[in-house]
Order: sequence, then C-alpha cells, then structure tokens
Amino acid sequence: MKTAIVTGANSGIGFVTARELLKDGYRVLCLSRNMRKLDAAVQNLATQTGSKECLAIRCDLASFKSIRNAVQSVKDCTDEIHLHINNAGLILSERQITEDSHEATFQINHLGPFLLTQSLLPLIEKAAGASGDCSRIINVSSIAHKAGLKNFWDFKAEKSYKQFDVYGRSKLANILYAKALATRLDPAICTANALHPGVIKSAFGADGDTKGLFAWGVKLMPKLPNFISGLMTVEQGAETTLYVARSEEGSQVTGQYFKNSRIAKPKTLGDEAIERFYHYSLTCSGAPEIPASFSSH
Ligand SMILES: NC(=O)c1ccc[n+]([C@@H]2O[C@H](COP(=O)([O-])OP(=O)(O)OC[C@H]3O[C@@H](n4cnc5c(N)ncnc54)[C@H](OP(=O)(O)O)[C@@H]3O)[C@@H](O)[C@H]2O)c1
Repeated sequence: MKTAIVTGANSGIGFVTARELLKDGYRVLCLSRNMRKLDAAVQNLATQTGSKECLAIRCDLASFKSIRNAVQSVKDCTDEIHLHINNAGLILSERQITEDSHEATFQINHLGPFLLTQSLLPLIEKAAGASGDCSRIINVSSIAHKAGLKNFWDFKAEKSYKQFDVYGRSKLANILYAKALATRLDPAICTANALHPGVIKSAFGADGDTKGLFAWGVKLMPKLPNFISGLMTVEQGAETTLYVARSEEGSQVTGQYFKNSRIAKPKTLGDEAIERFYHYSLTCSGAPEIPASFSSH
C-alpha cells in the first residue's frame, strides 16, 4: 500500500485531497495543528471512504519543535512516503512572530513545510526505490505568489506588513522550493512541483484578525452564492493537486507550476536567487540537507 502525507487535511482542499487519495487506496497521514479538528476530520474521512487507512498526526507548522515531533511520529508509522503534499497554509492580517523568531506566515507557509519535507526525504527516496515508480512532492502555492516579488527578501516583514504581499511572498517561496528540489533530486526518484488550486470557497482567510479591504473580501465572498462570487468548490480546488499526484505528467515533469491541471508560467526568480533562497531556508529552519544518494549531482 502506498503512503501519502497531506498537511492541512482537516479542512478545505486538504480534506478533499486526503479523501480522494484514500479512495485511490493510499494510506494517508493527515497532519495539522489542532487535534480536535483533525480527529473529527479523520473520522469523517473514514465514514466517507470506508477506509481505515487514515491517521491523524499533530503538526503545528508554526513550531519547529512540533514539526520535529511530527517527523518522529511519521517515522513510527512508516518508512516510505510515496506522495508528500504541502497543502496547509494561511494568511494573517497582523504581523506575528513565532517561537522560532520568524514571521508567522512565512514560517507556516514555507519554513515549516521546508523543514518537514527535508526531514522526510529519506522516506520519500525509499518509497521510490521500493515501488519502482517515482515519488512526488507537491507544494500548494497560489496565483497570489505574483505579489511576493515585491520585497521578496524581507522575510521577517520588517520593512512593512501588508498581508497580501507577505502571503504572496510565502506562496512564491513554495514555487522556488519546488524548483530548488527539482534541480537537486534525481527525477527518476522524485518529482517536485507547485500549483495554484484556483480561488476556492474554503475556511481560508478565517485565521487571524482580518482587517482592511482584502480581509473584508475574504470574509464576505464565501457567504455569496458561487455563481456571484466566482469561487470554486473545494472539490474543484483539489483537482490540480490530484492531477499532479495521479497523472503520468506529474511523474515526468519536475520544478513546474500547474494551474487548471496544466503547466503554467509563474513569476519567479533567477537560478542564483533560488539557490540563495534554498540555503537561506536550510539555515533558518535547521533542516537536514538532501541525502547524497538522492541527489541528481
Ligand atoms: N482558498 C483559496 O482560494 C486558495 C487560493 C490559492 C491557494 N490556496 C492555498 O491552498 C491551501 C489550502 O487552503 P484552503 O483553501 O483549503 O484553506 P483552509 O480550509 O483554511 O485549510 C488550510 C489548512 O491549513 C491548516 N493550517 C493552518 N495553519 C497551520 C499550522 N500552523 N500548522 C498546520 N496546519 C495549519 C489549517 O488548519 P486549521 O483548520 O487548524 O486552521 C487547515 O487545515 C493553502 O496553502 C492556501 O494558501 C487557497
């Protein structure tokens, strides 16, 4: 049986992704920060799919300590991960600093998933060897990454705090991380891609104190009927993730950005900046480097 990790599986796009992967026959490790919500979601997933192969693991991406504990819990459950989906994410309207001294949106949306993924690379590598198929890493980014180019290197948001720019920066980071992995990992062993799920009616934007026009929109839009708001359902929101997870193309291309289940062109940085960013992320998160056996170099 293949094993998948889905972060943020208790809600929205992550819940649907986990549900569909269970139906595909995966064992799914659901990671999120709130055990009450997560336990309820896992029960719900079991009822909806009839599968008992769904496990809840606490992982607060705002805390490196919690992530390291989650990595240990994952290792206690399995030594192979075929599919690793960094789906959890949020937008915060107020600047917050984590216990690890990073700006919270940047840590939750990028540095935390970075530490989690890097720590699990040996399990991801092992799965590919055992199944003969390549493993896949998928980062759920956003079209909002375009706003991240402005002051990209201001990761602590010391110059200014504009929630949409800060969120965009973290979502650009998801794309850059997929690209950095793609240059490092042997694509026969693992592909790494990012994607925009669409603009989706979910709990997104409900975290944090919402202020300003954007926050107002984020709160109001889901209350309107879909044909007025233009928002898509969470089922539609999971389609591109599932496409990259299931399709031939998702095992053949790496370092790409998908939108509407097709390769699209993101706004990005040059190769040198991506390298610099990868090393910055390693230093900030204390994550382990890629195992030498897994490297394409
Ligand atoms: N909705 C959209 O229109 C849209 C558009 C583009 C991209 N995206 C991206 O899609 C992904 C999924 O979003 P969604 O729309 O499904 O929103 P959602 O329903 O709010 O789901 C987000 C998930 O992330 C989890 N999460 C938040 N902070 C966390 C933390 N510190 N540690 C661990 N888990 C945490 C949430 O847990 P809690 O339930 O405990 O908060 C929840 O399970 C996100 O990465 C988002 O950036 C969404």
